[in-house]
Amino acid sequence: MAEVTLDKIVSLCKRRGFIFPSSEIYGGLNGAYDYGPLGVNLKNNIRDFWWREMTQIHDDIVGIDASILMNSQVWKASGHVSNFTDPMVDCKVCHARFRADQIDLKGPCPNCGNKGSFTEPRNFNLMFVTHIGPTADDASTVYLRPETAQGIYVNFKNVVTSARMKVPFGIAQVGKSFRNEITTKNFIFRSCEFEQMEMQWFCKPGTDDTWFPYWREQRMAFYGKMGIRVDHLRWHQHGPDELAFYAKDAYDIQYLFPMGWQELEGVHDRTDYDLTQHQKFSGKDMNYLDPMTNEKYIPYIVETSAGLTRNVLMVLSDAYEEQQLKDDTRVVLHLHPAIAPIKVAVLPLQKKDGLAEYASKLEHDLRHYFVTDYDVSGAIGRRYRRQDEVGTPYCVTVDYDTLKDNTVTIRYRDSMEQKRIRIEDIPAEVAKADAAYKRV
Ligand code: GAP
Repeated sequence: MAEVTLDKIVSLCKRRGFIFPSSEIYGGLNGAYDYGPLGVNLKNNIRDFWWREMTQIHDDIVGIDASILMNSQVWKASGHVSNFTDPMVDCKVCHARFRADQIDLKGPCPNCGNKGSFTEPRNFNLMFVTHIGPTADDASTVYLRPETAQGIYVNFKNVVTSARMKVPFGIAQVGKSFRNEITTKNFIFRSCEFEQMEMQWFCKPGTDDTWFPYWREQRMAFYGKMGIRVDHLRWHQHGPDELAFYAKDAYDIQYLFPMGWQELEGVHDRTDYDLTQHQKFSGKDMNYLDPMTNEKYIPYIVETSAGLTRNVLMVLSDAYEEQQLKDDTRVVLHLHPAIAPIKVAVLPLQKKDGLAEYASKLEHDLRHYFVTDYDVSGAIGRRYRRQDEVGTPYCVTVDYDTLKDNTVTIRYRDSMEQKRIRIEDIPAEVAKADAAYKRV
């Protein structure tokens, strides 16, 4: 099987309109990317799959959408202003910049090869700073949030009161986060602007020891449901020197990316650190009063924190395959039908004799059920290849028999099998095939 490289994924993303470099006509911007027509569908579908899993399938999880800009006291309380730093070194010869924990400081510079050329490590805060209003002083300083989690913590009391939630319960949120990353290589893996899908589970102190393994198991199972190969996923527990400043215990779900095993999602036991800090800094009571027992306590938090944009790269890497067929080759994306950017492509065998008009009408009708595509240009084999390459699970072909009996050929992406069905059965056939989907 041909090797899946990051270059192949980047090239497919550009060629087919999944992801482009940001402001490309001006030479791009480090660590920033734009999602094209197929990329935005894929990203939104992964987001929706996660949202449904968290807020619909699980009990007692509600959603919020907090603003990106928050009172800067939030980031003082959370510890990000003083602790959210990476150690950074510069090469004195070529001026390249590295994270001190990612290179051998006694070895040669990875860029120019000179030895002994690094500056002393300096701590570099990862938050982007800006100002609200016309004057740029301390009082007007605001930060672009580096995680979505804090927007949940500061709304804990609002949600308890307004949605009448009882501990244990969760709050889910999806949104943009920003980090001034020193190293942004590996495409969208580590970018300065990215999206996170986070869920904060509020529980009684002590019960975190039960909920922490529960959420680890749930989160790993989620990736299986999304059709990801389980042998490409594993756990990594943080050692004492890796633990974030807020965590009592932490595990990463790692995925075998084309560049090796890397973090995809973190599951953290944050104890009562965050709510205690917000209570201290805001002066507001963050205690929860249990209505059954009258006990009062600051809840512990188990957090599940996944990168949405990093999930996009993971899903593309996992789905990508170059297949050698009997008399041809094809690139195919084995995407789960629930997240594929296009669900059904309608292809008339010929443009002439009324086939194109019939197919176009059918495609319009099917839009009420799925995201569809209509493609009339080129030989039918080439059109199948184009759909395979973007992961469209089902192609429906309109031919001369269709005009006589209103049947079409439905072709399955992974097996390439074809079968004849009536047009009115297409939605039910697709639903059945979706439900039976298994990653090949
Ligand atoms: N609230 C906890 C938190 O933010 P994290 O481990 O720093 O924890 C969680 O980030 C997830 O967010 C990571 O597992 C990763 O998927 C994603 N992520 C973090 N930094 C990122 C970046 N610079 N670019 C893309 N995704 C990133």
